[in-house]
Amino acid sequence: MSTKKIFIINMIMLALAAIVFTVINLVPNDADKLKQIQENYAEEAQKGIDNSWAYFLINEEFPLPDGYTPELAHVQGVYMMDERCAEYAKTMIEAAAADGIDLCVVSAYRSIEKQQENLESYTQRLINEGHAPEEAEKLALMEIAEPGKSEHNAGLALDILTYDWWETHDDVTADFENTEEFLWLQENAHKYGFIMRYPKEWENTTGYTYEPWHYRFVGLYYAKEIRNSGLPFEYYYKMNF
Ligand code: DAL
Ligand code: ZN
Repeated sequence: MSTKKIFIINMIMLALAAIVFTVINLVPNDADKLKQIQENYAEEAQKGIDNSWAYFLINEEFPLPDGYTPELAHVQGVYMMDERCAEYAKTMIEAAAADGIDLCVVSAYRSIEKQQENLESYTQRLINEGHAPEEAEKLALMEIAEPGKSEHNAGLALDILTYDWWETHDDVTADFENTEEFLWLQENAHKYGFIMRYPKEWENTTGYTYEPWHYRFVGLYYAKEIRNSGLPFEYYYKMNF
């Protein structure tokens, strides 16, 4: 074999080795995954915090127990959350402000009565817009949970919009996803223990239409894990309970 051929073969072998090396290092292996999980745990554990109390599903299938009433603490304006996670929400809002992003809370804890009122008034609005009552009820339930089946009733959810939202909108709509507030939340909410709970791709699984404004506290560890998994809370929970 000529020297030139040997040189070319050597170069090809080197290039292949470089590709294999790069791919191996790009794909996270089990050790990397374990390290990530340990780091996520460590962040809460180091602070002596156990947020596993917040790791439970609230939905059509898993309603809150009758009479569930969380102790509340203020988050922003008149809005309150379960006192165990209100600080996380406040810290998230402060961190966003430090980045020049003003998150505007428009709903947080809701009593069972308020939930009922929201559901009834939205159903009525749909009827007024021309839907038959039965259809209106069905449509409303795709956007507003029945009383006792809402994360807002547990004080674990926040609805967040922009401060100038109502200047350009008369409703809460999915185009919140086009705001810098939403982009900030996408990048950062998990660092404060929150997940975007009703993703666009998983409407059939969550049972609710896409809500880019609705954030649910699950604790730092699970927020990071659920975000990394790319799964909706329903799937993640069933796989990791
Ligand atoms: N909009 C959400 C599903 C709720 O009412 O809790
Ligand atoms: Zn909400």
